[in-house]
Amino acid sequence: MSAEESVGAVAPRRPRIVVLISGSGTNLQALLDACRDGELTADIVAVGADRTDAAGLHRAATSGVPTFVVPPADFTGRQAWDEALASQIALFEPTWVVSAGFMRILGAAVLSAFPNRIINTHPALLPSFPGAHAVSDALSYGVKVTGCTVHLIDQGVDTGPVLAQRSLRIEPEDDEHTLHERIKEVERELLVEVVDQLCRHTVHVVGREVKLT
Ligand code: GAR
Repeated sequence: MSAEESVGAVAPRRPRIVVLISGSGTNLQALLDACRDGELTADIVAVGADRTDAAGLHRAATSGVPTFVVPPADFTGRQAWDEALASQIALFEPTWVVSAGFMRILGAAVLSAFPNRIINTHPALLPSFPGAHAVSDALSYGVKVTGCTVHLIDQGVDTGPVLAQRSLRIEPEDDEHTLHERIKEVERELLVEVVDQLCRHTVHVVGREVKLT
């Protein structure tokens, strides 16, 4: 046995992911499944939510993943909430933080604790239709093509550097529910692919450009 193979050798740490959710958590489920199936070489180390009734919390519990909830109503203001959220996330020492249907704007405490290490998935082709009503906004506008975007989070609302996008056609019979469900099918695949890439590479961010080496 060489010195390098000796029992003292430490295996490199697998990427650690904290996922933030507010709702059903189907994107979270895709990440959990990908980790379980070895499609994603990473560990989901915690799932955080802003509300105790987020259905995705059950998905985490079923997979044996620790959860935490930081409801804004428990705090005196936005800054105190944001600081508490940053502390909770930090406890799990994440390599990446994934906002997957987390319907809150992250503040300075969270952003500065994990610079260029927080990604978001959004159900539209940014910069079109940012915000909380992307799917209905796209339908109301009458666009014929929409999609999803996975991007780094910065101080703005859905303005951070784009990592990947996928498009799909809007069908004449689509309503908000059917369209969102079809977007989410594509979105789940894209999110797993992007997280996998991020976990396998070193990420360099220069302005709006993101390079993986
Ligand atoms: C996803 O479509 C995600 O892009 C969207 O919420 C959905 C969550 O679905 N997020 C936003 O609209 C953020 N602006 P899920 O809970 O089933 O993963």
